[in-house]
Amino acid sequence: MKKGVFISLIILFVFPVLLHAGVEGTKHDLTPTGSSNFSGNFTDPNGSPILNRCVFCHTPHAGGTTIYPLWNKNLPTGTYTMYSSATIDATIPSEPNDRSKICMSCHDGISALNVIFNAPGPGTYTPQVPVGFYDQISDVYYPGSPFAWYPGANIGEMGPWNTSTVYLNNDHPISMNYRSDLDTNLRPPTTVGSRTWVINGSIQLPLYGPGTGTSATVECSSCHDVHDTATYSGKGSTEVYFLRTSNVGSQLCRTCHLF
Ligand code: HEC
Ligand code: HEC
Ligand code: HEC
Ligand code: HEC
Repeated sequence: MKKGVFISLIILFVFPVLLHAGVEGTKHDLTPTGSSNFSGNFTDPNGSPILNRCVFCHTPHAGGTTIYPLWNKNLPTGTYTMYSSATIDATIPSEPNDRSKICMSCHDGISALNVIFNAPGPGTYTPQVPVGFYDQISDVYYPGSPFAWYPGANIGEMGPWNTSTVYLNNDHPISMNYRSDLDTNLRPPTTVGSRTWVINGSIQLPLYGPGTGTSATVECSSCHDVHDTATYSGKGSTEVYFLRTSNVGSQLCRTCHLF
């Protein structure tokens, strides 16, 4: 067998999963190959379809100077209503950390998906679809929703009749420290270098900095992998894309909560 064929076979049979993991084809692929309600809607300043699927979130140049990682959008400006409860041990900040706000720069409901700092190709970018016309997550009717814009992927629950408050009070708390020292039903975290994880067997959930250990924070990306690299059955049909692990048997929840 020729060496090249042999190597291709190894790649096909040993890494078939890796070949399909990633943004392409998912709901975060806003180019025509994606599966979101908005995929293929957006054109560049020349009127051609945008075919660069990273550009809706990242830019190699001219991104925000304080917004990481190379973020290509402004952070949303709304006022946040955060989760609160009498039994929570950690202190919840009055608004999310930037690591979660970057998700809200589309998931607040009203931030336009196609408003970015730097479009592909030379020059600057002007949104090609006017704001308010099928470019916001609240423009989609989610079957079963009591109102057209509410809630589905509209985590912040902003929409035509609420343009000022981002409601995160009906969502799992975020941006608080992981206080397994105070809440003993939380699995103790593991710090490796400057990063902290909650680890249970093969499941590894990241916590975020700058603190480590019980000072590290839970963010949207602790549960979600925005690039969709995890593989498990039911993904995209019975389970949402972008979970770090299947939640069958509540194994995602039980990685942190020892119930
Ligand atoms: C829908 C938005 C979105 C899209 C599209 C997207 N990313 Fe990301 N990317 C993120 C977010 C959010 C993070 C931060 C993840 C985290 O906090 O762990 C990130 C992080 C990264 C990082 C840093 C990873 C690390 O762990 O340090 C790289 C590199 C990256 N993205 C590359 C890409 C490339 C290449 C593409 C296109 C194929 C892409 N991204 C498409 C949202 C996106
Ligand atoms: C503690 C874990 C956890 C955190 C933190 C978390 N999520 Fe989720 N999220 C989930 C799980 C689990 C699901 C799947 C729920 C289901 O199947 O109904 C989900 C579902 C979603 C959905 C799909 C909702 C739908 O019904 O279509 C979106 C969008 C989403 N999350 C965005 C976010 C954003 C944005 C943040 C941060 C503000 C966040 N998530 C924080 C665990 C989490
Ligand atoms: C560039 C805009 C953008 C950013 C930034 C973004 N998303 Fe999304 N996300 C979308 C769109 C668009 C959809 C699909 C909505 C639809 O089809 O109605 C989606 C869908 C989702 C879903 C639901 C998937 C499903 O199977 O139903 C989850 C979960 C999610 N996003 C999590 C996140 C998290 C967590 C972050 C930040 C780490 C993030 N997103 C950042 C645009 C974005
Ligand atoms: C990455 C770790 C992590 C994951 C995964 C996780 N949680 Fe949490 N959760 C926390 C932390 C930390 C708190 C705050 C606990 C405290 O300080 O009292 C919390 C708080 C909560 C609370 C509020 C408790 C209160 O006293 O008000 C509930 C309910 C909850 N989580 C349920 C879930 C469910 C259901 C899932 C799975 C969908 C889940 N969690 C996944 C870390 C996590």
